Amino acid sequence: MARLFILLSAAVIFSFAGPGTSAAQQDSPEIKDHIFLENPAQNAEAEAGRIYQALKDEMEVSYEMSGIPEIKNYQSWDSFNSLPYLSETHGRRYVNNFANKIGADYGKLAKGEKHAPGTVLAKDSLTLTDSGQFFPGALFIMEKLAAGTNPQTADWRYIMISPDGSVFGDTTGDQRANVDYCHDCHKVRASYDYVFYIPEEFRRNK
Ligand code: HEC
Repeated sequence: MARLFILLSAAVIFSFAGPGTSAAQQDSPEIKDHIFLENPAQNAEAEAGRIYQALKDEMEVSYEMSGIPEIKNYQSWDSFNSLPYLSETHGRRYVNNFANKIGADYGKLAKGEKHAPGTVLAKDSLTLTDSGQFFPGALFIMEKLAAGTNPQTADWRYIMISPDGSVFGDTTGDQRANVDYCHDCHKVRASYDYVFYIPEEFRRNK
């Protein structure tokens, strides 16, 4: 009898979760809870933006301790996002995107076009801890090298700088193996010169 009961309840749960019951789901309390739970996510971006304003000067100074000249004053470059947004692909960090003058066409390339050598794209980040606090995160960099310099990565150099200013990896220098995975993922955007651009809702100029 007990077993039959379990089987029946499993069938009920299954029928609610199955396709074709979307109308029922829309009215279900779980869906309403889910919508309610989306608000904290929006607040998280606003909160990240506020904390970023307080920490960004200190972050720039720390990243520059890496001694990598290409990122000097990156916060004075064009910035492309409205608020820090959650990037699952960069270790669940809240990120911002900057491009230097040569890379001013970031996000505007037509299919098949390439960025000019000297383009530097920088993405700094805040890490959100499980207890809900933001801390400076890593700086992610892509630099377009002179044509033919590094064919394995389509002449892109990938660098990751830790928040304390140490170089975690640089595809043209120390700890290459630590950042080989960058190009492996960026490869899927080969037709746009390996650049993804940022989610539409967080673009500064939509
Ligand atoms: C699993 C996929 C993935 C991996 C791994 C990855 N990226 Fe990205 N990268 C993305 C996506 C998607 C975007 C754009 C959206 C975003 O910011 O999340 C992006 C954006 C960037 C940008 C801004 C230029 C652009 O493409 O829009 C830089 C700079 C960057 N990544 C550097 C790095 C570096 C350095 C590493 C390695 C340490 C790395 N990425 C690893 C997927 C990845």
